[in-house]
Amino acid sequence: MTETKIWTVNEMDAAARAIKRGSLVAFPTETVYGLGADAYNEKAVGKVYAAKGRPSDNPLIVHVADPEQVSDFAIVNERAQKLMSAYWPGPLTMILPVKPGVLSMTVTGGLDTVAVRLPDNDATRQLIRESGKPLVGPSANTSGKPSPTLAKHVYHDLHGKIAGILDDGPTKIGVESTVLDLSSGMPAVLRPGKITPAQIEAVIGMAIDSEVHHVADDETPKAPGMKYRHYAPDKAVYMVAPEDWTQAIIWMQSQLEPVGLMLTNDLIEKHQLAGMDFIWSLGDNNDTAAAKLFAGLRYFDDKKDVQTILVAAMPQVDVNGAYNNRLGKASGGHWISELLHV
Ligand code: TXA
Ligand code: MG
Repeated sequence: MTETKIWTVNEMDAAARAIKRGSLVAFPTETVYGLGADAYNEKAVGKVYAAKGRPSDNPLIVHVADPEQVSDFAIVNERAQKLMSAYWPGPLTMILPVKPGVLSMTVTGGLDTVAVRLPDNDATRQLIRESGKPLVGPSANTSGKPSPTLAKHVYHDLHGKIAGILDDGPTKIGVESTVLDLSSGMPAVLRPGKITPAQIEAVIGMAIDSEVHHVADDETPKAPGMKYRHYAPDKAVYMVAPEDWTQAIIWMQSQLEPVGLMLTNDLIEKHQLAGMDFIWSLGDNNDTAAAKLFAGLRYFDDKKDVQTILVAAMPQVDVNGAYNNRLGKASGGHWISELLHV
C-alpha cells in the first residue's frame, strides 16, 4: 500500500519523477482526470489495468504534448493532420494505424490501431514533456464507475494504488473526449464527446458515421470499452424527460426513502425545489450539465439513504449527444416513465 500524494501543479517535478520511475500519476485534462503511466514502459502500463480493475482487452489512449510526437508510434493520415490542426489541444481522440514494434500489446490491447490525444491542460502537457515520454491515460476511476472530474474523485477510487494526483481543480468539460476512428475508409464516431460530428465533417469535408452503436457483451465492438457497463453508480438511476418532471416529483414524494434529483436550475425554479435536500444542480445550460453530471452521480452514490437518483435528460440535439450518451449508460437506458405507468 503506497501513500497517494496530492501535488499542486507547482510540484510538477515530483510527478514527473514518479512517472520516470514507472509509477502511476493521475493528471488533469479538460475532460476528466486521466491515470498516467509511461506509454513505453510495459510494466508501468500493466499497473494501470491493475489499479483500475480494467479488462486487459480494453486499450488505452496515448497522450502526447505535441502533434509531432504521434508519428513516433502511429501513422498520421491527411484527415488526422487536418483535425489535429483544427482541434488540438482539445477533446478529440483519434484512432490511427499503429507503427509496429514501438508500443507494447498492453497499450493497444493487441489491435493494429492506437488511440491518440493531445489534452488541453498546460500542467499535463508540461508533465508529458518533463517525463520525456507519451503517457497512457484512461479515465482515473475504478473501472465501471463515473469518470473523475475532481482530484478527490480520483483519491476516492485509487488512493493507496497510485503514487500521486496532480490537482488542477475541477475539469472544465466533464465528459470524456470524442473518440473518432480514422483507421479505415469510413471515419466513425465510437464515443460522442464535446467535439461534434458536424465539427469533424466541417474539417475533413465528408460525411462520417456518427451513429454510436450499442454493443452487447458478446459482440466485438469497435471501441472495446463500449461493451462494459459504464459510469454507473451503485444506485438505481432513471432519466427524466423535460415534460415528465411534474409526475416525477409526485412519484418522489410518495417514496419512503429520499430520492436524489439532478436537474438544471430552470427546472429547480419551475418546480420550486430550491433549498430542498437531495438536490444536485446541473447548472444553467448544456455545458454546465455535462461538467456536473459525474460529480452528481458520485455525490449521491456516497449518500447512504438514497437508493434512487432521477436525472434530467437534455433535449436531443447534437451538442447534447455526449451528455445523454453518458446518462444513458449510467441509467442502463431506464426512464422514469417506466415507474409512472406501472
Ligand atoms: O477524455 C478522455 O478521453 C479521457 C482523458 C483522461 O483523456 N480518457 C479516457 O480514456 O476516457 P478511457 O480509457 O477511459 O476511454 C478510452 C476509450 C475506451 O472506450 C477504449 O475502448 C477506446 O477509447 N479505445 C482505446 N484505444 C482504442 C482503439 N485502438 N480502437 C478503438 N477504441 C479504442
Ligand atoms: Mg474510462
